[in-house]
Amino acid sequence: MLVTGATGRVGRAVTGLLIEAGVPVRALTHRSEAAATLPANVEVVTGDLTVPESLDAGLRGVSAVFLVWTVPPATAPAVVDRLATCVRRVVFLSSPHQIPHPFFQQPNPMAALHADIERLIVAAGLESTIIRPGMFASNVLSWWATAIGADGVVRWPYGAAETAPVDDRDVAAVAARTLYEDGHAGGDYVLTGPESLSQAEQVSIIGDVLGRRIRFVELSPDEFRSETAGSWPRPVVDMLLAAWGATIGRPAFVTSTVFDILGSAPRSFRQWVTDHATAFIESPNLPS
Ligand SMILES: NC(=O)c1ccc[n+]([C@@H]2O[C@H](COP(=O)([O-])OP(=O)(O)OC[C@H]3O[C@@H](n4cnc5c(N)ncnc54)[C@H](OP(=O)(O)O)[C@@H]3O)[C@@H](O)[C@H]2O)c1
Repeated sequence: MLVTGATGRVGRAVTGLLIEAGVPVRALTHRSEAAATLPANVEVVTGDLTVPESLDAGLRGVSAVFLVWTVPPATAPAVVDRLATCVRRVVFLSSPHQIPHPFFQQPNPMAALHADIERLIVAAGLESTIIRPGMFASNVLSWWATAIGADGVVRWPYGAAETAPVDDRDVAAVAARTLYEDGHAGGDYVLTGPESLSQAEQVSIIGDVLGRRIRFVELSPDEFRSETAGSWPRPVVDMLLAAWGATIGRPAFVTSTVFDILGSAPRSFRQWVTDHATAFIESPNLPS
């Protein structure tokens, strides 16, 4: 199997789980220096999704691909065509853009790209399994760890907006299962964490787990735009603001799919924080 995004959050865990399951794995990276960060017993190939012909060596002899798309859309048609000539099956890391919950129905260029790639996969006649996680629990590391480490004050908009953060390890476990177990061709799996939690509640859970008082300071959308200007891409900020704003007053969309496929409960947000507490503690400028 070829795992793309193998150095990323989900693909790295998928690679590990496939190795554990005894499945021969080839891991793709477009940076040769990243190979050293992958397990020694994995075959690493270099290839770049923006240069479709660079994938040929990695695709040779492969029966299925885990596809993670984080590059611009231009080369998606050529890449999917190439997959269709070399492999039978694709497990694609997408998003729940078709779910009629307001959180997932806001303008979102990434979701539009996911939908396009799904159409390409169908048109190419590939067998597919579509994995649709909601918000990753791990997003909070890049959002809040620095502020928590610096002064324990999280300045953020829409504290009341609820999401159901899903643990990347559960996303990876479902993806790996659909790669090595029969019966998932045509599968379309929306994955969420087990509970709907407001963003302010998520911050408070982090404080509880770390044993520190963390203050949540509510920003207006415009204050958030100006505080992230220059450090966050504006389309990402607008996409998040639209999704959080639209979900106010509604619980997050929660599914039982992780349990249905793995037979074990999805990890809670508290569990994710507990397992990653050092990442907050080790963040820069932590007051003693
Ligand atoms: N964050 C969320 O809440 C969320 C929710 C639902 C869906 N998703 C989707 O999940 C996907 C991201 O997954 P992730 O978080 O596991 O990824 P990630 O940690 O952001 O890692 C990105 C991966 O893309 C690879 N990559 C970057 N440029 C590449 C290129 N030119 N050619 C080949 N590979 C390239 C990187 O590998 P190298 O640099 O080593 O090549 C890396 O492994 C996105 O499609 C996102 O929309 C995210």
